[in-house]
Amino acid sequence: MEYRAFGKTGLKVSRVGLGAWQFSDAWGVMDYDLAKKTIAAALEAGINFIDTAAVYGRGTSETHVGKALRELRAREGTVIATKVPGDLLRAGDVVKAARKSRERLGVDVIDIMQVHWPPCWYNVPTCEYMKALEGLVKEGVIRYIGVSNFPVKLLEEARQCLSTTDVVSTQNRYNLIEREAEKELLPYAERNGIQVIAWSPLAKGLLTGKYNPDDLPRFSDVRANDPLYAPDNVRQIMRLVQALREIGDKHGRTPGQVALNWLIKAGVIPIPGAKGPEQVISNAASVGWSISDDEARRLAEISDSLNISYVTW
Ligand SMILES: NC(=O)c1ccc[n+]([C@@H]2O[C@H](COP(=O)([O-])OP(=O)(O)OC[C@H]3O[C@@H](n4cnc5c(N)ncnc54)[C@H](OP(=O)(O)O)[C@@H]3O)[C@@H](O)[C@H]2O)c1
Repeated sequence: MEYRAFGKTGLKVSRVGLGAWQFSDAWGVMDYDLAKKTIAAALEAGINFIDTAAVYGRGTSETHVGKALRELRAREGTVIATKVPGDLLRAGDVVKAARKSRERLGVDVIDIMQVHWPPCWYNVPTCEYMKALEGLVKEGVIRYIGVSNFPVKLLEEARQCLSTTDVVSTQNRYNLIEREAEKELLPYAERNGIQVIAWSPLAKGLLTGKYNPDDLPRFSDVRANDPLYAPDNVRQIMRLVQALREIGDKHGRTPGQVALNWLIKAGVIPIPGAKGPEQVISNAASVGWSISDDEARRLAEISDSLNISYVTW
């Protein structure tokens, strides 16, 4: 495994992390033993960065992650990032939610507390929740503050609310198909030393190449109504998967590993979710080698040529 500096924090994290949304009803891994085996395999492969959130199974994911790290005696050396929901951003709720997350994780301090999404519907002033988070840093409940799904302007405003600390990371949807983050966010993050974390780095499994547009399973998980899985979109995405396969063949890697490597090469930290040890072991092998500049460009060009639409009904 290779490690990199996490923004300006001084933390060293593996170049690929583990997404723990899978340990919830949304993806179906509710069984603690399977979650623990998956986490154990991640640690064994050198992954030391785990992303979870209060809303993942309403605490199930945090509880599983915390318990597994305790039982595997791996809390020390593992960086845990969790999230306070965008619905709970009134100052008092931020404090209460963070304490509950800390309790579920069973840790003294949460390494990175991210605002899961901005308070889109509730008009909570930005400085109200950012200052509440800053208070939690001072109190030692959390170590660092991150945001997720913030547009650049709001991220900038959020940073201006802080006087003794800064936002260290931004977590956004970013994969070879969905690249909106490249327009404003990535350049801003780069200029400001803010770490970008890529969620859905495998486009929820599509970039692994295991799904065929003519034989799509009937998903009963978060993908049931995901527009990316509309047959017209999947059909187009297969062109990209074909290129991932060809490049992967040259490097002795799978399409999914190439898709993750493309993100890693760009300096972001992908956090692929895994439903079992085999998947996490495979995802860890996206590190330690690199596609060439030409290969990266070829993938970006094919991606540019896709005409994906979310208007599917
Ligand atoms: N901040 C946010 O708002 C936000 C939003 C979404 C996600 N996230 C975070 O990002 C993480 C990852 O995103 P995601 O779960 O949406 O999607 P993802 O990582 O793109 O895809 C995960 C899915 O792909 C399949 N998969 C993973 N590794 C595989 C492998 N090696 N071989 C074959 N299939 C594999 C699995 O599903 P199947 O086996 O069923 O195909 C798995 O559930 C989450 O766990 C969460 O921590 C954050």
